[in-house]
Amino acid sequence: MRHEADPRSRPGTRPDATASSGPHLLAVGGGKGGVGKTLLTANIAAALAQAGRRVVAIDTDLEGANLHTVLGVPAPRASLADFVAKRESDLRKLVVDTPIPGLRLIAGTQGHLGAPQPRSFRRVALLSELRKLPADHVLVDLGAGTHPSVMDYFLVGQDGILVLTPEPTSVENAYSFLRAAFYRRLRLAMTSESARALVHQAMDQGNQRGIRTPLDLLREIRTIAPEEGERFAAAVQGFRPRIVVNAARTAEDVRLGFAVKSVCKKYFGIEADYVGYVNHDEAVTQAIRQRRPVVVSHPHSDAAVYLTRIARKLMDAGRRARGSRPAPRPHGAHGYARRPLA
Ligand SMILES: Nc1ncnc2c1ncn2[C@@H]1O[C@H](COP(=O)(O)OP(=O)(O)OP(=O)(O)O)[C@@H](O)[C@H]1O
Ligand SMILES: [Mg+2]
Repeated sequence: MRHEADPRSRPGTRPDATASSGPHLLAVGGGKGGVGKTLLTANIAAALAQAGRRVVAIDTDLEGANLHTVLGVPAPRASLADFVAKRESDLRKLVVDTPIPGLRLIAGTQGHLGAPQPRSFRRVALLSELRKLPADHVLVDLGAGTHPSVMDYFLVGQDGILVLTPEPTSVENAYSFLRAAFYRRLRLAMTSESARALVHQAMDQGNQRGIRTPLDLLREIRTIAPEEGERFAAAVQGFRPRIVVNAARTAEDVRLGFAVKSVCKKYFGIEADYVGYVNHDEAVTQAIRQRRPVVVSHPHSDAAVYLTRIARKLMDAGRRARGSRPAPRPHGAHGYARRPLA
């Protein structure tokens, strides 16, 4: 198919993915269900809006859409499902207001249960529509799992945020998610069919060629298609996931982010950023019951303070991508040691 053959039309490889035009795209994923992806999306979006930015949050979880509820919007009729079903091709017409000034929403409600995810062709159209939204930041809430559509949304943004909680199951799923995103990015970056086929083989951990690590893969790719080596290195370099540890209760939980960062470096050769943690906080539960982001309903709670801090870091990263001056750094070595955890 033509859109698959042209690298510019593949998600995550478009030349404008990191360019300064269009909104700053941030996708929030994590592999496992219930780890706080929607919490992060809603609150980073709200915190950015509170800082005076124009923000659109979009719920791509068509099977479990609930971002609208967390933002206090009664189930909207217009939703991303209209775009997926081709009832509407202009994404801007699906944007609805939220009670939070500066923050608008494209909900994921009213999905077609038989065909919940857009097909590859429609995803490419969606990703280019996202870049036309009149906003400074677009926050993309992802569903659980590693479906190719989830990966495409994760890879499209300048910033892919990986949320995990300090539980072995979440950590395990976070690594599978990273691995899937990493190899998908590599595969999309390769232009020759043979190199793409090799990446595909490497995605199977028990592959017969003995490719176990990205370095093994690079070696093999250089053998069969030397010209792809540079593209491979660029794709690895450009992949910089931002890690957030959610629902932290102990200092050890907080350190998990650093452990994940070093595993990323050691096993994939990728530089991940640990952008902060959010502690487990009863205020989060109360805020959800009130259908308001915690940064709005309980702005002085620990969770709100940490979420705002993460939003600020991401805003700085977005500014840097656009080539303008960063906002002043928060205090503390890493910017997230304000209230020590137990
Ligand atoms: N920091 C926290 N403190 C307390 N409770 C939390 C925290 N983070 C998440 N939760 C609880 O976990 C629930 C799930 O969070 P959320 O809906 O954001 O997860 P999700 O990753 O989007 O899930 P899904 O994969 O189903 O979309 C929330 O409703 C909330 O009750
Ligand atoms: Mg969710």
